[in-house]
Amino acid sequence: MEKKKQALPARRQVVMSGIRPTGFLHLGNYFGAVRNYVRMQEEYECYFMVADLHSLTTHPDTKELKANVHRVLAENIACGLDPDKVALYCQSHLYETCELYLYLCMLAYKGELEKTSTFKEKARKQPDNINAGLLTYPVLQTADIIIHRARYVPVGKDQEQHLEMARNFVNRFNHRYGEVFPEPAAFNFGEELLKIPSLDGAGKMSKSENQYATIYLSDDDELIRKKVMRAKTDPGPAERNSAKPDYIENLFLLMKLVGTGDEVKKFDEDFNNCTIRYGDMKKQLAEDMVKFVHPIREKAEAFRNDEKYLKEVMQKGAEKATKSANATMERVREAMGLKYF
Ligand code: TYM
Repeated sequence: MEKKKQALPARRQVVMSGIRPTGFLHLGNYFGAVRNYVRMQEEYECYFMVADLHSLTTHPDTKELKANVHRVLAENIACGLDPDKVALYCQSHLYETCELYLYLCMLAYKGELEKTSTFKEKARKQPDNINAGLLTYPVLQTADIIIHRARYVPVGKDQEQHLEMARNFVNRFNHRYGEVFPEPAAFNFGEELLKIPSLDGAGKMSKSENQYATIYLSDDDELIRKKVMRAKTDPGPAERNSAKPDYIENLFLLMKLVGTGDEVKKFDEDFNNCTIRYGDMKKQLAEDMVKFVHPIREKAEAFRNDEKYLKEVMQKGAEKATKSANATMERVREAMGLKYF
């Protein structure tokens, strides 16, 4: 068979993702998203942003916004994101996103937007503020991603449906106006997307709900210990090799993420032999979590207090992102027939 000549890629593969500044970052944000941002920064062309515009769909009061934007930036950097290697910016600083969002709005249908799970959930929670921004949330998210013509989007499991919608919008655009965008996909190094459960066994860790069952990157050592020790357990298995209930499975998952393989193996064996002592397991998990969160918290605090540095990060990030966005928008306007001279 004749071998096709492979042209060298002109650009590294492009990665894009974002986090809303609606509260404190937690282990779910870390393991679902930020850890992969850090792993990807060496090999990919990366764009990571603080989704301040998206936060306005649910948090219209902007009193805390600046502090929250600073916190998210500081926590990302404390987790190992290097603003010299990636574009780390603020969504509202990339004006071109709003133009692309508007064009994509003409390709998105009311029916499909109304069926989105996050829309239905938020509409239920804030019946007096079902605004158009909430309805078109996935359209703006698509614009965020494809403004850089990104292919890979490191996110947690809860973002799966938004990514599916992004692919639909991209295909519609390409079909109508010509191939401009690659199809973006949620990314976790070939593994299942993660959902980090809350410690009470009811739902997932979250920035604004379930606060006592969520470990935040800003929690101090004592608070982490308290939260972990309160995690839901039971008297233990009555029969050897029985299935683990969800809330116990969750503790094992967390231990796999922050602890050592040996510990997991030991407690797993204890579980299967019906000799497990959940108090001991939680004590171990708490110490592992403290060890994990403590250095991130300290670094984040230092970055958060350095406004001058954060301003430089945002400016440099916006500059890099704008360059990439301008190149995309040239192609978009051309493809859409919006160039009149
Ligand atoms: P947000 O701010 O809710 O969450 C930020 C990232 O953290 C992940 N995540 C979790 N992963 C695993 N377990 C959990 N318990 C958990 N909680 C949160 C989320 O999946 C996400 O990756 N719509 C997005 C923000 C956004 C965006 C984008 C993302 C705006 N534009 C463009 C990607 C690309 C959101 O609300 O994330």
